[in-house]
Amino acid sequence: MKLISDSAAETEQIGKRVARALKGTEVIALFGGLGMGKTAFTRGLAAELGVTDGVQSPTFALVNTYNGRFTVYHFDMYRVTTWEDLYSTGFFDYLDTGILVIEWSENIEGALPEDHISITISKGEHDNQRIFEIEGLDIQ
Ligand SMILES: Nc1ncnc2c1ncn2[C@@H]1O[C@H](COP(=O)(O)OP(=O)(O)O)[C@@H](O)[C@H]1O
Ligand SMILES: [Mg+2]
Repeated sequence: MKLISDSAAETEQIGKRVARALKGTEVIALFGGLGMGKTAFTRGLAAELGVTDGVQSPTFALVNTYNGRFTVYHFDMYRVTTWEDLYSTGFFDYLDTGILVIEWSENIEGALPEDHISITISKGEHDNQRIFEIEGLDIQ
């Protein structure tokens, strides 16, 4: 399914909408470069799950954990380029224990479970427009 966002606030709303369709152990792979709104999307998703902590790109930590109605593991795979790097993030240990939201999924595509949800964000017709292509999840 394709959704259009015209602002960061609308992107957060898309995150909330996706959150409402989750059961608790999904892997959400985000694709799309710098400034596409991956963190804004994750902020909305986490807020809808009752997370009150600030959501920021976990660039240096590689993974941030948020506790809401479900546990959310928020990854940034920008610097993850080898299987060894990936193991050291805890990725495989977290699978099936909560919701994994992964920025820069491009870098770990071969490690994604087959049933992952894929969200590709691209630029729209104007500066603040983003196009969300969502695959692998039925949303309302
Ligand atoms: N439609 C939009 N959706 C999300 N962010 C937008 C949008 N339009 C403009 N922006 C801006 O783009 C930036 C997105 O930042 P961020 O969510 O950190 O992106 P990413 O994590 O993909 O690098 C923010 O500065 C935000 O204000
Ligand atoms: Mg980010």
